[in-house]
Amino acid sequence: MWNGLAMLFSCGSPTTESDPVTACASAPGWSEADGVLRSWCTGCHASALPISLRQGAPLGVDFDTYAGASHWASRIAVRASQLGDMPPAAGMPDADRQLLADWVACGATGTSASIPSECGAATDVGPLALDAAGAVAWCEAGFGAVDGDLVWTGEGAIDCLCDVAGSLTVESGTLEAPRLTRVGGAVTLTGGFNAANLAEVASLAVGPGGLVETLQLSSLATVEGDLLVRSGPERLDLPRLTEVGGDFVVEGVDGLVAIDGLDGLIHVGGSLRWEGLPAVDVLPGLRALTFVGGDVVWMELGAPYWPTLGSLQAMDGSLVLSGGEATMLTVGPLLGWVGGDVVIEHLPSLADVDALGALTAVGGGVQIASLPSLETVAMFAVLATAGSLVVEDVDPITGIVLPLTDLSGGLTLHGNDGLLDLDGLSQLGHVGGDVVVTDNTALPEAEIEVWLAGVAVDGVVVRAGNGL
Ligand code: HEC
Repeated sequence: MWNGLAMLFSCGSPTTESDPVTACASAPGWSEADGVLRSWCTGCHASALPISLRQGAPLGVDFDTYAGASHWASRIAVRASQLGDMPPAAGMPDADRQLLADWVACGATGTSASIPSECGAATDVGPLALDAAGAVAWCEAGFGAVDGDLVWTGEGAIDCLCDVAGSLTVESGTLEAPRLTRVGGAVTLTGGFNAANLAEVASLAVGPGGLVETLQLSSLATVEGDLLVRSGPERLDLPRLTEVGGDFVVEGVDGLVAIDGLDGLIHVGGSLRWEGLPAVDVLPGLRALTFVGGDVVWMELGAPYWPTLGSLQAMDGSLVLSGGEATMLTVGPLLGWVGGDVVIEHLPSLADVDALGALTAVGGGVQIASLPSLETVAMFAVLATAGSLVVEDVDPITGIVLPLTDLSGGLTLHGNDGLLDLDGLSQLGHVGGDVVVTDNTALPEAEIEVWLAGVAVDGVVVRAGNGL
């Protein structure tokens, strides 16, 4: 009776104290949930609404169909009930919030033509440990689903496997599972894995010690928790991935050449951290990404072009672009607000930056440091406020043009040998911390003097080693 998608939020999972079977017997169905969503949510979250009419609701986060609402079910419960911060305006009755929470807790049931068909085969209670020979016997016995965990070793296939309710571990060899559509628990790979129909998993971890050459999961749409790649693949190809509920981490994979096909990725609930990938040459654009719950950190990446983050309008975490071979950055054209820090540093080949042109406010610090090859900079065109600002060892720039009016923390300009004047910082009226202007060898002290006369500085002013 449960279809594949609904099982993620299966009623059998102990989310309530009371007996779930009795509690869910009278649970609201899709028609009730649909009614509430239409009253309170689809004014902003509907697939027909263009971005200009969505009042900031991310593209793709739509609840006007069962497929859309069930895809976002866990987040609907979190935002409407647990946090209660959706809809943004007050007025939604508690009873309606509870109705959505109950609908989700009891499986987010409903019907839709686009939902994959049920598994259908007999269920083994598990746990199971299989290899190629064991798999043939298991399929011949009529099984197709496992209610518990499954551990695989060796080369081979489980042709009949369609659903794993627990975790799936590939310990060695390579598992082919052509009919598998869902893993209710964690997928852990220290071997190869081909599952062209796998649409959803609770979490996915590759390595340590993983042997996967190409990890291609061409139907994987949802990773409820974390997606962690810590060793293994040369290519990571996830063309249909739309949602990672937790962190999306790819780190320390020396042989990774390409991360492909994340054109449909809309939502990362945690941080997006790609770090220590010296051989990577191809990175995706991430044009559809509209929500990142944590930080975006790209460090020590070998590729010349880095993702654009084309749809992201706001993020609470930090944006850190540090170390690696980037030659040009065109990041965050729509990003207006960053709650944490913005750091762009240690990029020796970076020649051209056309980034963050819509950014108006940064909650933390802005740090631009060690960019020795910079030729053109077009960024921060409308940045009005930030916690602090550091510009350090950016030799090629002759001026810093920033419409900043206020810094709640300090300002540091250090070791910028090309810097000639501070005219571009003339709108800055207040610095909450210290002002440190040191070792900018071409910047005349007289110039600094004139500029300082127009700025209210709460902290101390430190000047040394500048030009005459
Ligand atoms: C007035 C417009 C508006 C209405 C109405 C509205 N939202 Fe939103 N929603 C937004 C905006 C803006 C964002 C992006 C900012 C954010 O995530 O807080 C968003 C984002 C979301 C997200 C995606 C982020 C995440 O947490 O995964 C979910 C889910 C969501 N809303 C659920 C709801 C639900 C459920 C309702 C109805 C009960 C609702 N929204 C009603 C404007 C709206």
